[in-house]
Amino acid sequence: VKNGNGVKGLIDSGLSEVPERYIQPEEERIKKVKTKRHDVSPIDLSKLRGPDHKKVLDEIVRAAETLGFFQVVNHGIPLELLESLKDSAHRFFNLSPEEKSLFYPGVSPSTKVKYGTSFAPEKEKALEWKDYISMGYTDDHDALQYWPNECKEVALDYLKLSSTMVRDIVEILIENLGVRVEESRIEGIIGMKMVNMNYYPLCPNPDLTVGVGRHSDMGTITVLLQDGIGGLYVKLDDHNNNHNDVEWLEVPPIPGALVINIGDTIKILSNGKYKSAEHRVRTTSTESRVSIPVFIFPKPTEKIGPLEELVKKEGVARYREVMFQDYMNNFFANAHHGKKSLEFAK
Ligand code: SIN
Ligand code: FE2
Repeated sequence: VKNGNGVKGLIDSGLSEVPERYIQPEEERIKKVKTKRHDVSPIDLSKLRGPDHKKVLDEIVRAAETLGFFQVVNHGIPLELLESLKDSAHRFFNLSPEEKSLFYPGVSPSTKVKYGTSFAPEKEKALEWKDYISMGYTDDHDALQYWPNECKEVALDYLKLSSTMVRDIVEILIENLGVRVEESRIEGIIGMKMVNMNYYPLCPNPDLTVGVGRHSDMGTITVLLQDGIGGLYVKLDDHNNNHNDVEWLEVPPIPGALVINIGDTIKILSNGKYKSAEHRVRTTSTESRVSIPVFIFPKPTEKIGPLEELVKKEGVARYREVMFQDYMNNFFANAHHGKKSLEFAK
């Protein structure tokens, strides 16, 4: 479904209504009414190293067990870098169609760098209103050689500067399970990284479309920078399983904060204790939105299953062990469909 310039190309051509293939079925549309905002103060990560250590640690664990989403400040990434990242995302998507098409799969000089639109266009009944560039990380040299010039330096700084917070959060979550995990296992669990830049062009019909459909992230954790536009919604657990009762909370943009969300991998390792929340993105009719996630995944060869000691203690394994590569292939082979991705590990 290539149109040369993604969704942005459609908008730039002066379109005043979304094409049929972007119209979501009724049940997937995101109504703006009735949604609440997740007005919880962000967690101050600088306090992890100080007398309030235990309090901050508890806040992280509590958030991971309940919503699966939280925001952080004093995360070690300079605010100027966050601003440059958003600017560079706009710079990249404002390139000409010809320049962006150099990063299409099959043409891109690296298999780890990919420009695309929607999520799994061949599998989707309705397309998502989003363009993106994915930049898989192998080493600095490779990143500076193959990532787009418009964003490579800042994206690489972002990835590297977020790694301390990522490690802290993952270690806290695992230690809180009360089981011993080797250093090398932690390395395996956070062993693969990728930076994406998402571009959601303004949309003439936000009530009919989605920027991103319902899904939970498949990896370990995701660090997300969003701009001030808003539109990211997280699903609250629906205990009575009634689709009409489901509540969605908007994750409000907080200047200088980053959003952290727990992926399926952590949910599986923790034998279901931590949440990998379902979330989705609404489009906006007034301005284009950008968001910039760093995805932390296990190494492809890492075996992902409930931690052994935990299974012994709890007497039940709620998931089977799978190779992360297989989990990932299954995730990308299907349209976004809520939390069905987890069924692969059932
Ligand atoms: C996503 O979860 O895929 C995107 C989140 C966002 O753009 O806010
Ligand atoms: Fe996501």
